[in-house]
Amino acid sequence: MQSTTRKIWIVDFGSQYTQLITRKSRELGFSSEIVTLESVKESFSQGKKPECLVLSGGPDSLSTDKTDYSFLFEQDLPILGICYGHQIMASHFGGVVAPGTIAEYGKSQIQLTGGHTMGPIPKEFQVWMSHFDHVTKVPQNFKTIMQSDNGLIAGMVDEGSRLMGLQFHPEVEHSTCGKEILCYFYEEVAALKRDWSSTEMLKETSAIVKEVGDAKVLCAFSGGVDSLVAATIADKVIGKNVYCFFVDNGLLRPQDYGHIEILKKETPLNIEIIDAKDNFLGKLKGVSDPEEKRKIIGHTFIEVFEEKVHQFEREHGIHFEYLLQGTLYPDVIESISPHKKGGKSVTIKSHHNVGGLPERMKLKLLEPLRYLFKDEGRKIGEELGLKHEWVYRHPFPGPGIGIRVLGALDNSSIEKVGHSDQILFEELHKAEIYESIAQAFTVLLPVKTVGVKGDGRAYEEVICLRMVSTTDFMTATWTELSHDFLSRVSGRITNEVKGITRVVYDITSKPPGTIEWE
Ligand code: XMP
Repeated sequence: MQSTTRKIWIVDFGSQYTQLITRKSRELGFSSEIVTLESVKESFSQGKKPECLVLSGGPDSLSTDKTDYSFLFEQDLPILGICYGHQIMASHFGGVVAPGTIAEYGKSQIQLTGGHTMGPIPKEFQVWMSHFDHVTKVPQNFKTIMQSDNGLIAGMVDEGSRLMGLQFHPEVEHSTCGKEILCYFYEEVAALKRDWSSTEMLKETSAIVKEVGDAKVLCAFSGGVDSLVAATIADKVIGKNVYCFFVDNGLLRPQDYGHIEILKKETPLNIEIIDAKDNFLGKLKGVSDPEEKRKIIGHTFIEVFEEKVHQFEREHGIHFEYLLQGTLYPDVIESISPHKKGGKSVTIKSHHNVGGLPERMKLKLLEPLRYLFKDEGRKIGEELGLKHEWVYRHPFPGPGIGIRVLGALDNSSIEKVGHSDQILFEELHKAEIYESIAQAFTVLLPVKTVGVKGDGRAYEEVICLRMVSTTDFMTATWTELSHDFLSRVSGRITNEVKGITRVVYDITSKPPGTIEWE
């Protein structure tokens, strides 16, 4: 997972937010990547090191974790410790970390203390806390620079040694000055220079593709921005050797079928459509458990893809060596079971994008975007000249409507979600708010409610509208929309979608909810 060419290594201690630190750092123009403690140790022993380390938060407590972290502090690197990383830093340099009597979870108010100033950061601001233990005494040479409203040490710095510790999470959107604080550390404390831009990203991703030489490359194409950008980079670099296969799993919305047809017509990509609707829907019949549904969809995708591609190879006398995927950095990190990897964060859902296929088909993996976040992929897409509406299309998950009909699926439930989504999207475009929302969709709830339609009693199902605002999809807030808009969508869905009498709006943020319901 490590490229070792990045300026900043973010050492993962298992926080759910580790990748946000990477994202925010890159948004600020600093190349960064997540590394494990073990890989840092190995790199240091081989004489490889970054220009700066960030120690993430994590679920452990120093009262039970007896790991020797001293090697992290022996390279004379600038280091930022966040939450657990802050406690590790304080403890290493002789400060005191105490088990908390008060847990701090959620939003907290912070003040800069001791007359300390930090560039544009105001004297008082809001942050996101998530900890129990905390630093009660900062080490010698460090000064306390921030405290929380209940009097706990929230930040410390040793400018001479380029070390800073923060008890809160500057990487989380709820921390109002988070980005400025990270920037302050990188520029003022660590004295780093910015090195990350879309031209740099395009150069790096193109170099990854170039390595395949004359080999034939197969692309698992979904039409979403990630596989579209990956395929377009590959097309620019190795041209006709790239073949895109799109699997129609029957779990698509009407708008997705239209989109694929447009891409087939308007891009130079070589797109083959595999119709596997019956296969997927047959296997999903009667299955209601979300993880089981996700696994069936993932396995069926692999089976179908393998069979059709082998058939294509036989018919065209070619042999594919590589599988091109639009896998992004978050997919790579989230899909790997923590226990297998020795990492510490828990798996929330099994995404079906990565895994299985290359081993089974004996294909080497080509993932030019695997070190990039979605917004970085979008920037490259625009640089490549792809149409704005293709690049800014909302994400649509691989399992599609399969995870938006809660419980078991059938043709009628798929139709209800597809139709409701179509109405929602028409209204979003009409109101010109589509792009201000990160993701919008409808979910069919497995309940029936009583209503009145015309003069009669109706006992029908419920559609839930889900619209979220986020830039990273790791955390998200539900989108505030006008009552007028919501009532228009609700009116149209209850009138136009057969079998729906009630529409509700999901007002849950992530965390604690996830974006998808399954
Ligand atoms: P959650 O529900 O985990 O979703 O908050 C975060 C983002 O990931 C998308 N998602 C998926 N995308 N395959 C995908 O390609 C999957 O299995 C999958 N599950 C969730 C979701 O739509 C949201 O954008």
